[in-house]
Amino acid sequence: MDFPHLHEPALSATVDLLVLVVFGDPSKDPQFKAADAAAKGALREAARHESFEGKANQSLSFWTGGAITARRLLVLGAGGRGDLNVATLRDLGAAAAQAANRNSAESLAFLVPALGAKQLTAVQHIVEGSLLGTYKFSRYLTSEESKKAPTLRSFGILTDSKGARITAAAARAVSAAIDRAKVIAQAINRARDLINEPAGFMTPMQLAAEAEGLVKRHPQLSIQVLGPKKCEELGMGMFLAVGKGSEQEPRLIHITYKPAKKPKKKVVLIGKGITFDSGGYSLKPSNAMEDMKVDMSGAAAVISAMDAIAQLGSEHEVHAIAACCENLVSGRAYKLGDVLRSMDGTTVEINNTDAEGRLTLGDAITYARTKVAPDEMFDFATLTGACMVALGPYTAGVMTDHPALAKAWLEAAERAGEDMWRLPLNARLREQLKSNVADMRNTGDRFGGAITAGLFLKVFAKDTPWVHVDIAGPASLTTARPHQPRGGSGFAVASILEYVTRH
Ligand code: BES
Ligand code: MN
Ligand code: ZN
Repeated sequence: MDFPHLHEPALSATVDLLVLVVFGDPSKDPQFKAADAAAKGALREAARHESFEGKANQSLSFWTGGAITARRLLVLGAGGRGDLNVATLRDLGAAAAQAANRNSAESLAFLVPALGAKQLTAVQHIVEGSLLGTYKFSRYLTSEESKKAPTLRSFGILTDSKGARITAAAARAVSAAIDRAKVIAQAINRARDLINEPAGFMTPMQLAAEAEGLVKRHPQLSIQVLGPKKCEELGMGMFLAVGKGSEQEPRLIHITYKPAKKPKKKVVLIGKGITFDSGGYSLKPSNAMEDMKVDMSGAAAVISAMDAIAQLGSEHEVHAIAACCENLVSGRAYKLGDVLRSMDGTTVEINNTDAEGRLTLGDAITYARTKVAPDEMFDFATLTGACMVALGPYTAGVMTDHPALAKAWLEAAERAGEDMWRLPLNARLREQLKSNVADMRNTGDRFGGAITAGLFLKVFAKDTPWVHVDIAGPASLTTARPHQPRGGSGFAVASILEYVTRH
């Protein structure tokens, strides 16, 4: 899809579909009024009959019959100006693109409302939304209908300049916002593809192959993939134990981005990469296991983000690390009561094989800490159902002992339009992880389950500034919104990119 910046007046844009945004009562909007005048009052009439009041998520599709240049007009309700945020802007872009495809339109012009200083980021989020909202995981669909390519090819951006001419500098800024949006949305959609692929295909080795393919396209990126032998030499006893029950070999994926200039900081992004989580001998019930191909969403996010980081550039040296394996049952699987030795020497008694993510992440954190020696590290993990109980399905839990890092991270997430909320790493809950036979056990009680998982990881992060992001809820969605279809969401990619390219 192309995103030309159009300079003609909205009502004479030569496109199939013109898209206007109104905030509440459409008859108060000057563009709506002008279109209505051209249509001799038929637009207001249509709005009245369709009960279109410009509320959020409302839309009005109007056949112009030649009253204006565009064949069809789509009026999107945005509610009050205060309702506008990153996510609702993405929804507007998504709704426009979806309507165009529904109407077999090939071109549209989207009049971005005048938002003052926020206009440029609005352009970015609308363009992102159009690409995110037309995402479809269709690799395994075979019907004629599902093979049909979407018709929309040109998503034109009209910036409301209130009649004034747009300066060259302003035009450059708009095209930069469009370019940034394309890179970000493509990275999110790539993460969605990795997540939505069934576990029967997206094995640890396949995930490593995808990472290698991506790295090949960018000279600033390099990759190291470690197999079981190398991980054994490194002493990654927790990571290897989790993968032991599977026929699929584990892989530790490590991608490095080096900036052209001397890096400001070294930042490590760690992703949980369980390509399927059956629970192991602490077997999940069938309904809880059904969606467990998504348990590599953290890995998908950090790997896909590297593709965008190479294109957008960062002042930091950035590492993506994902310890990938399958958590299955077999004669070789790890068992309850086993005592594992982690890469940093800590011994861990297993009281639940379904708390596998913290084991793989613990060794990945030690690997990051000792091999990279980062200034900061973040981990992204579909770690606990308890986090969803605490925060609901749309909000990630953020845990860290570094207030300044928490602040910088949460601000980036806010700018990126991803819901995140801090949970306390209450040290008193550490008691729950006491073991009689090892330094600690891997699971605590039911209450505070997201936090005890965070406390477990903290043992391995030690003094390195570290942020844990539990994405169990938002990584995969069962209810859609315009810019987020059901399934893998690509959650965390946008925040990662905001943080490492704008901080
Ligand atoms: N991968 C799951 C967590 C999860 C649940 C992710 C739902 C996405 C949706 C994780 O490995 C797990 O099984 N966690 C256990 C921990 C428990 C055994 C302490 C859980 O949440 O039940
Ligand atoms: Mn599990
Ligand atoms: Zn898991």
